[in-house]
Formats: sequence, C-alpha cells, structure tokens
Amino acid sequence: MMKITIIAGARPNFMKIAPIIKAITRNNLISYRLVHTGQHYDKNLSENFFRELEIPQPDINLKVGSGSQAEQTAKIMIEFEKELLENPCDYVLLVGDVNSTLACAIVAKKLHTKVIHVEAGLRSNDMRMPEEVNRKVVDSISDLHFTTTTEASEQLYKEGHGKENVHFVGNVMIDSLVHNLSRIKEPGFQLPQSYFALTLHRPSNVDKNEKIREYLEVIHEAVKDKVTVVFPIHPRTKKSLEGYVIPSSIKTCDPLSYHQFLYLIKHSIGVITDSGGIQEETTFMNVPCITLRENTERPETITIGTNELVGDNTELLKKYISKILEGKWKKGVVPDKWDGNASIRIIDSLIS
Ligand code: UD1
Repeated sequence: MMKITIIAGARPNFMKIAPIIKAITRNNLISYRLVHTGQHYDKNLSENFFRELEIPQPDINLKVGSGSQAEQTAKIMIEFEKELLENPCDYVLLVGDVNSTLACAIVAKKLHTKVIHVEAGLRSNDMRMPEEVNRKVVDSISDLHFTTTTEASEQLYKEGHGKENVHFVGNVMIDSLVHNLSRIKEPGFQLPQSYFALTLHRPSNVDKNEKIREYLEVIHEAVKDKVTVVFPIHPRTKKSLEGYVIPSSIKTCDPLSYHQFLYLIKHSIGVITDSGGIQEETTFMNVPCITLRENTERPETITIGTNELVGDNTELLKKYISKILEGKWKKGVVPDKWDGNASIRIIDSLIS
C-alpha cells in the first residue's frame, strides 16, 4: 500500500487537505499520516477549522509556533526531519505556499522522499512576498505537481518540468467550498443589512501602521452613511492596530470559523482583501472582490472572475467601492475544473 504523509500548518492549508483526506479514505489503496506543523495554533485559526472541515486529529503536532521567516522555517525543518526519519513514507504531500510547505519540501527531498505539490505553478512574480519564494523553491524540487489552472501547468513546463509530472486537476480549496456551502452559518453576531467584508493580513499591507490606517480611513470615507464594513482581524493585523481607534463604519471581530466566513462573503455586497484564497472563493461565488495588492498569482480571478487589483492606489480603491455600491461590477465565470472534484482527480491520478 502506498504511504503518504500529508502536511498542514496554517489556516489556508486546512481547507486544501480536508477534501484530499476524504478522497483518500474513499478507497483502501493509500494509507496516510497527517502532520500538523503548529505554524498556526490559535483555536480560531486551527482547531475550529479541523472541526468544521471534519479533518481527523493529526497523528502528530510539531508545535513550532511563530517566529521570523528563518526561525519558523528552521524550526519546522528540524522537527519534521525527526518525524520523517521515525515514520518514513513513499510521498510527502504539500499544499499551497506557506512556510510549512517550504520547510517540509526541503526536508523530504533531502531524505530522498518524493514530494507532491498541490496548487503548484502559481506565480505572482513578486519576490518580496515570502509565499512567492516558497512557491518557487517547492515547485523546483517537487516530483509531482497538481495545478489549479492550465496557465499554472504552462508555467511549470516553462520552468523545465516534464508533462508526465504536471497534472491539471482543478482547485482543492473550491472542493471544500462546494462541500461546505450547505453548512455555512451566520457569525455569532447580527450582520448588517448591507455590508462589505474586509480582510487584511499581508505583511506588506499591515506591518506598517500608517499604511493599514490609511486604508481603513479611505474605506470608511467611501462607504460612510451608505453601508457597513465587517472586518475579522487576523492576529498579525491586530498588533498593528493596537491603540488606534477604528473608523466607525468598520465593525471588527475576531477571525471567523470557516463556515461563518463563507457565510460572511456569500452575503456581502463585495469583499476587500489581500488574501490569495479569497480571490478564488469570491470568483466561485460571483461576489465582487477588490484586492489590495499590486499583483496576483491567481490571474484567472481577474481575467474571467470577479476580482480586480488596486495595489495601494487609494483613488482606485474608492472608485471600485463606488462601482460595487452602484451595482455596476463585472460578472464572473468559474474557471475550468473548479467543480468540487479536484481531490478525487488527484487521488485517482496517484493510484493510476
Ligand atoms: C501565514 C502565511 C500566509 C497565509 C496566512 C494565513 C507564511 C509565510 N505566511 O501568514 O501565506 O496567507 O498564514 O493566515 O507562511 N499568530 C497568532 N496565532 C496563531 C498564528 C500566528 O497570534 O495561531 C500571530 C503571531 O504573532 C505571528 C503572526 O500572527 O507572529 C503571523 O503568523 P505567521 O504564521 O508567521 O504568518 P501569517 O501572517 O499568519
């Protein structure tokens, strides 16, 4: 029987591993071991996601916690090397682009274990983002690549990967979305009648106090007396906002659970974000999305989806908010194979 070790460490990983584990357990041809690196450890960034997504308890939690880029990556490498030596496997399966993905790919490869990368081939071409460094390194040493779009596959061919090792299967995060849409639930507080949802957590947006404050003020000016903005605050962002009085049209809350967050976006008039995954979720749900970044590794959300980039251009941000308020936003199309079955394709492909 093929043995796979699956890695998860941070919030966006959990939605991606859940459907893969479900697809593995549909047959008894693959056995798996689940490793949680402990990169995210707060209940509302980790445990709540395991519960709602019905992910089995991890076989081990490496409990690495937070740190600088190097500290966190190094801690994961040290702990995962011990784990993999004690529990060898045929493949290590990694999702996404977080530090846990990078650290475990390097360890696995150096222990001569084959690496599978799910959500491979995405490129923002912005090497200031830690995630872009992670993506490039992971893809360069992975043995098997599963992609969300044909563009991502093309990127991997350009980088010299053979067609036999690159498989366009669709989007595992959309698998989770499809499987959970009937279970979404209202957050534990009354949502306004009409609102934008806002999320910000990229270091480039939130680590400088003045920048995030300017965004909040511009957003407040654009929506005040018209609609409210609901803003679940990531712990990284909370630090930058300490001691600052948030403008009155922006209602903050703690990070929401997966089902609550999907409810929040589905019922919003639009989303303002700097997340990667949310650009895809809004495109799937046909909800307008404004992304506070200069680039995206998910260009299909702009070319055929509901997303637009504004970089840090606050005039454009105001213009786009007005456009959504006036109901003039473009309609999107869902990209090919974002249909809830990507994980099944991955497992079928591994078995065959
Ligand atoms: C990480 C990922 C990012 C992903 C994001 C989703 C990397 C490089 N970044 O960023 O791609 O979009 O997760 O949330 O892997 N903290 C807590 N509790 C926790 C975890 C973190 O309070 O459970 C605080 C700590 O102060 C920590 C900070 O948040 O220093 C940042 O956490 P970290 O895991 O380093 O990166 P994220 O910003 O969450």
